[in-house]
Amino acid sequence: MSERDFEWAKERIGAIMQGFVADCGNEIVNALFAKTNHGKMLRSKLLLAVSGVSEEALGLCAIIELIQSASLLHDDVIDNAHTRRNSPSLNALFGNKNAIMLGDVLYAKAFFELSAYERAIAKSVSDCVCRLAVGEIEDVFMAQSFNTNKARYLQMCELKTAALIAASAECGALLAGLDSQKYRAYGNNLGIAFQIIDDVLDITQSAEVLGKPAMSDLSEGKSTLPYIYLYERATQEVCQELLTLFAKPLSESSAQWLRAQLDSYHCVRDSIAKAREYALSALDSIQNEGNAQLSKIAQNMIEREF
Ligand code: FPP
Ligand code: MG
Repeated sequence: MSERDFEWAKERIGAIMQGFVADCGNEIVNALFAKTNHGKMLRSKLLLAVSGVSEEALGLCAIIELIQSASLLHDDVIDNAHTRRNSPSLNALFGNKNAIMLGDVLYAKAFFELSAYERAIAKSVSDCVCRLAVGEIEDVFMAQSFNTNKARYLQMCELKTAALIAASAECGALLAGLDSQKYRAYGNNLGIAFQIIDDVLDITQSAEVLGKPAMSDLSEGKSTLPYIYLYERATQEVCQELLTLFAKPLSESSAQWLRAQLDSYHCVRDSIAKAREYALSALDSIQNEGNAQLSKIAQNMIEREF
């Protein structure tokens, strides 16, 4: 699928999503939904790259994007985030109650539409939503104190982020009659790589590029992989200062100090290397499938510049 074809597909998926929401027959819901922004639709891109374009596949993409939007509505309430994709978040515009309830409508409608699909697809998507909610609970609990456990962080990434990406690739394969386990493994590894890179970008990119405040993870209580490396490698004094800065608003001078420490202990470089390992495992899972587009998506993640 060319970039142009995907732009067309994105428009179509957006229209199906809007139609699903309109089916609920409530003007307030329609108005709130109109204020949300669909983003890059990575999960749909993967699904369509595996299954090819059909009405059935586009409908499933719309279901998955509704689930993704709903989880971000809830996540912004949980993280008390006021910006999403360069715009005010829905909770910032209309308050937490409306953001949570719109999320519930989107989830519920997505599940209703999902019930029309074959059992294996319905199982894959519904199981992954359970996993992503468990992942979010893990994320919230881990934010109570500075997490130093890499395995726990990686498992949380697998649940919170990779689950829906894995299900998208798996469902594409189920629609196309391909070996779904291979595609699921691809999506799972790609999803972990994606979350690690997301956590790196929080440190290396500006608010403008991110579409939300920069370096917000540490102040939100998230000790992501670069910070875990820093804690493992730095002097006692640096670690002490890192713990002092944890889960508090970060001043510009502290942010600069942190970036310098992360740099001098190669924490960003090695986090990117870890993401590359997962992206390579993703490539490995589908190496004999002859899907150039999926290879390119994983390759781009490896070769991206930071
Ligand atoms: C973003 O993480 C959040 C997710 C990837 C998943 C959120 C999932 C839920 C809120 C659970 C869903 C609820 C139900 C009812 C199933 P982030 O905060 O690290 O990323 P961000 O910087 O983009 O906000
Ligand atoms: Mg968040």
